[in-house]
Order: sequence, then C-alpha cells, then structure tokens
Amino acid sequence: EQLFVNGDPARGVLACVTCHGDGGNSTIPMNPNLAAMPHEYIAKQLRDFAPQGDKPAVRTGADGAPSIMSTIAPALTAQDIANVSLYLSHQKMDWDKAGTASKEASMERGQTIWRAGIADRQVPACAACHSANGAGLPAEFPRLAGQHPEYLLDQLKLFRSGDRANSIMHDIADRMNDKDLAAVADYAAGL
Ligand code: HEM
Ligand code: HEM
Repeated sequence: EQLFVNGDPARGVLACVTCHGDGGNSTIPMNPNLAAMPHEYIAKQLRDFAPQGDKPAVRTGADGAPSIMSTIAPALTAQDIANVSLYLSHQKMDWDKAGTASKEASMERGQTIWRAGIADRQVPACAACHSANGAGLPAEFPRLAGQHPEYLLDQLKLFRSGDRANSIMHDIADRMNDKDLAAVADYAAGL
C-alpha cells in the first residue's frame, strides 16, 4: 500500500495511485483498473514491462515504443512487486468507477464471441480462460469485467501486432477483425 499510494521518490518511482486510482480503481479510460486482479497476473505484468537480463521487455506500447510503465517497472524490486501485487489483489472493485458496455448494436456479437468464440476462425470462447463472469482466474488470467473498454480494445490490438508479446492472446486477436475486437472488448467491460 505504501508504494502504491506514495511511490518512492528517492528511487524515482511515481505513485501508482495517481494513474490507477484509489485502491486501483482507475477512472481514466486508457489506464487499467487493477483492483481485485489475481496477484500472480499483476506481478507478471510488472516483470513483463522490464527487460529481463539480456531479453527485451515483453510488453511495450504501439510500434515498440515504451509504455508509461516501461520507466516505472524496472525500478521495482522483487519485494516491491510482491507487495504491491498482493495489495491490489485484495482491493475491492468500485463498480461506480468501473468500465461498462455502451455499444448496443454490437452487444450480441460480443456476447457470442465471449461465450462461444468464432468456430470457423478457431477463436476459442473468452469465457474459458477469463471465467464466465469475466472476473479472471488464478493465476495468470486477468479480470476483464469492469475494465475500461478503450483499454481492452487497445490491448487486443497490441496482442495482435505483437507489441505485447503473448502467444495465446496473439493467436486469438490475430483471427479477429477490428469490428469483432471492438464488440468483444465492449461486451467484456460490461460483464
Ligand atoms: C499498466 C501497475 C504506476 C499508467 C499497468 C499494469 C500494472 C500496473 C500491473 C498492467 C495492468 C493490466 O495488464 O491489466 C502499476 C504500479 C504502479 C504504476 C504497481 C506504481 C508502482 C503508474 C503510473 C502511471 C501508470 C504512475 C501513469 C503515469 C499505466 C498505463 C498502463 C498501465 C497507461 C497501460 C499500459 C500500456 O498498455 O502500455 N500498471 N502502475 N501506471 N499503467 Fe501502471
Ligand atoms: C489477457 C481478452 C480469450 C488467456 C487478455 C487481455 C485481454 C484479453 C483484453 C489483457 C487484459 C489486461 O491487460 O488487463 C480476451 C478476449 C478473448 C480472450 C476478448 C476471446 C476472444 C482468451 C483465452 C485464453 C486467454 C481463450 C486462454 C486460452 C489470456 C492470458 C492473458 C490474457 C493468459 C494474460 C496475458 C499476459 O500475461 O500478458 N485477454 N481473451 N484469453 N488472456 Fe485473453
């Protein structure tokens, strides 16, 4: 909590709360809310934003440009990562600040992809890994319910381009067009 709320100015670590909101409930569309995420998932992302040994960071912004997190994550120790991940996983979702679905016209398409995938393009059901209600699953499957739809769509495009390197999600996003990605991002946010 200490690190999340205050950062560590001596080491140049910005306070997480500034961008991710109280208890990880962000109100800014492109900043993910982090409350109640599996702690293993949060820890993995913080490692993914930093180069590991001579391997480059797994997670960057579009076209390989650094993400805001690319300057923050490398300054964290393994202990910092463990502490802040556990803190966030124990925070309650504030549903008043959460993301919601807003696209009535694509709702049905989003729901179909969420529940059943797209059989003729070998897209599996999202619910299989992110849980039927979108709450995520331990250890490394993030919560998508209540996440900001703008953020979800952005991440799906980063998986598709490979700027966020993850083979499972790359294969899934690569088989969907922009319309499908927008539909399922909106639907998942509203779960
Ligand atoms: C992404 C944690 C500080 C802006 C993330 C993610 C985590 C995280 C775990 C990935 C979330 C996910 O995959 O769902 C933290 C922690 C911080 C911190 C522990 C403090 C030590 C900040 C600050 C800012 C910020 C200060 C703004 C200046 C963002 C943005 C993303 C993000 C914009 C999305 C990144 C992208 O897609 O490139 N953060 N964060 N974070 N964070 Fe932070
Ligand atoms: C991450 C969407 C299906 C496994 C994510 C994220 C999104 C997403 C938006 C990033 C969340 C964040 O940054 O907070 C979807 C959608 C799906 C789908 C819309 C259906 C079309 C699946 C399936 C699996 C899966 C079927 C398992 C076989 C994962 C994993 C991650 C992830 C492991 C974390 C990747 C990492 O560590 O960076 N998914 N997903 N997803 N998803 Fe999915």
